[in-house]
Parts: sequence; structure tokens; C-alpha cells
Amino acid sequence: MIVAIDGPAGAGKSSVARAVARRIGAGYLDTGAMYRALTWLALDRRADLDDGAELAALARRYPSRLSPGEGGVIVQIADTDVTSAIREPDVTAEVSRVSAHAAVRAAVVAVQQELIAEGDWVADGRDVGTVIAPGAEVKVFMTATVEERARRRVRDLERVGQGVAHDEMVAEIERRDGIDSGREASPMQVADGALVIDTSDLTEQQVVEVVERLVAGARG
Ligand code: DC
Repeated sequence: MIVAIDGPAGAGKSSVARAVARRIGAGYLDTGAMYRALTWLALDRRADLDDGAELAALARRYPSRLSPGEGGVIVQIADTDVTSAIREPDVTAEVSRVSAHAAVRAAVVAVQQELIAEGDWVADGRDVGTVIAPGAEVKVFMTATVEERARRRVRDLERVGQGVAHDEMVAEIERRDGIDSGREASPMQVADGALVIDTSDLTEQQVVEVVERLVAGARG
């Protein structure tokens, strides 16, 4: 079974996806981590972020590897552990630009589809229900107001010692939303058959319960 959870940054997808995966005994795939790892590598190698062909070649040569670790998923690329580096502001600032290239997406999606071809998976991202797994048994599109998403991101970053002002975060989220939804190559959109959940006034637990009910329904 595949559970596809798409939506914009800060909607709470990854916490919900991880919790649902644990509860239903499925693997968890953070599809954004793969674009982040590639962006880290591209910055490290000083690749041209506007050159889709060059970036896609990097993606094919160095597929990112995700493996379960004690504190969550460990992300590696080109034999380097980039688990924390991919959450740094320099990567976050450029990842939408890198992931907008059609050639990059084709290379990354191929790896993602191979990974989830067998077994049960909960995958979160922007194009899980539309492109990676259009046949997913459960599809959810999680969203929340920009204000609420910015508040959550600021709080998460504070926890890891990074301070960002609320207004700056609102601007950053609006900028990334614009690129992710406006790009030509598989823009972020609600998949056919997806349930849209506005999480602005819901707790993580409430959202997990909604998704679990969908899973139970799909399993019959
Ligand atoms: O979910 P995230 O913030 O880690 O995602 C990082 C970026 O990667 C996001 O700005 C858009 C892109 N992305 C994508 O285009 N497709 C996905 N399936 C996942 C992420």
C-alpha cells in the first residue's frame, strides 16, 4: 500500500507521515530530502543551479540514500552524511530552484519509484500523488495558512538553535510556494482523489487519525 501525503512547506506533512508509517508498519519516504541532498551536492561542487542537464547528471551519478537511524532518517549522498546539512538555510534557499528542472525531477523520481515499488510506504512531498505514485491507495493534500506554517517553521528552527524572524519566514514560504506551484515540471497541485486537509486548527494527532481512517478504509 502507498500513502501519498503532499502539500506545501510547513503544513506538517513529515511529522504526520512519520507517525502514520510507524503506526501502520510501513516505510517512510521523505521525497524532499532527495532534492535537498542533490542541492547540497550541487552547492558543494559549485554546479550551475540553472543548468538542469548538469544537475540531472549529478543526480544520476550520485543517487541519494535514505536509511532509518536512531533520531530519524539518515540521508547520504556521494558517500557523505548530509542529514543535518540539508536542513541548513543555504540548502533551503536553493532547493526549489534545483527541483524545478524537469531533467532533475525525472532522475530523482526514477529513484523514488524504484524504492517504493515493493512493500508499504508513506511518502511525503509535492508530487507523490500526482507523479511518483498516481495509483496510491490513499492520497492526502495537507495545507495550512501561510501565517500558521511560518509560525511552525520558526518554532522548529528555534529548537535546533536557528533563529529566524516571523516576517522573514512568511516571505520565504511565499517565495518557495510560488516556485513549487508555478513551475512547469510537475507543479505542486492537489492529486485526483486526494483529501485536502487544512491543518491550521488541528493537532498532529488529529491529522494522524484522519489519515489512519483513510488507510483502514483502503485496506477494507
Ligand atoms: O519538503 P521539503 O521542504 O523538504 O522540500 C524541499 C523542496 O523540494 C521544496 O521546496 C520543493 C521540492 N520538492 C519537490 O519539488 N518535490 C517533492 N516531491 C518534494 C520536494
